[in-house]
Amino acid sequence: MNSSEWDLRYRETERLWSAEPNVFVAEIIAPLPPGTALDLGCGEGRNARWLASRGWTVTGVDFSAVALERARKDADAAGVNVRWIQADVTTWKPPARAFDLVVSCYLHLPPAEMRAALANAAEALRAGGMLLVVGHARVNLTDGVGGPQDPEVLYEPAEVVDWLPGGLRVLRAEHAYREVEKEGVVRRAIDTLVVATSDFDSESSDRLQ
Ligand SMILES: C[S@@+](CC[C@H](N)C(=O)[O-])C[C@H]1O[C@@H](n2cnc3c(N)ncnc32)[C@H](O)[C@@H]1O
Repeated sequence: MNSSEWDLRYRETERLWSAEPNVFVAEIIAPLPPGTALDLGCGEGRNARWLASRGWTVTGVDFSAVALERARKDADAAGVNVRWIQADVTTWKPPARAFDLVVSCYLHLPPAEMRAALANAAEALRAGGMLLVVGHARVNLTDGVGGPQDPEVLYEPAEVVDWLPGGLRVLRAEHAYREVEKEGVVRRAIDTLVVATSDFDSESSDRLQ
């Protein structure tokens, strides 16, 4: 989907995604001391807003103007400051080595574009910084629920690991499970979760313990 199609999708409803942070983002990031964070494909800004509320200095990037307008409004209402940037994450070059954390949460693009976005994400990480990727696993098509139904844009943990550029150390690459209620029926959604750090060194190990 291009940015106009995303704009249309956002316009169809007042709120497309939950206002709460993603459960895995919250679980994994909560113990970390705040630093600088980049949220790629930030959408309506739920994760960026949550990070900012915990003291992180956050930049949220998305190519949908409608999503960003909403994200800005919600952050203002919550009294948190986030820098919002409208850009295509496959081509936008973030400032190099500027972030302690890069989050990619349910960003689903064809493999070559995911690879490009993750290469940009890796460039943006400081030594010891963390890259966190959460997305809908392809196995949802047969065993789970939710997410895009196009197998090309879904991904398994090993694929994300394969897309990562060198210089990253993979800490976790696995399926993670969420319960989702739809029309009174609770089902299990299967996510792909990958956590990696850049150039792990002694200084950074303090941040990630
Ligand atoms: C499924 S939503 C997830 C939003 C948010 N990360 C969350 O978890 O609530 C995917 C978002 O990625 C954005 N997106 C998709 N492709 C993009 C691209 N190439 N560059 C920038 N944003 C993109 C869409 O506009 C949309 O807001």
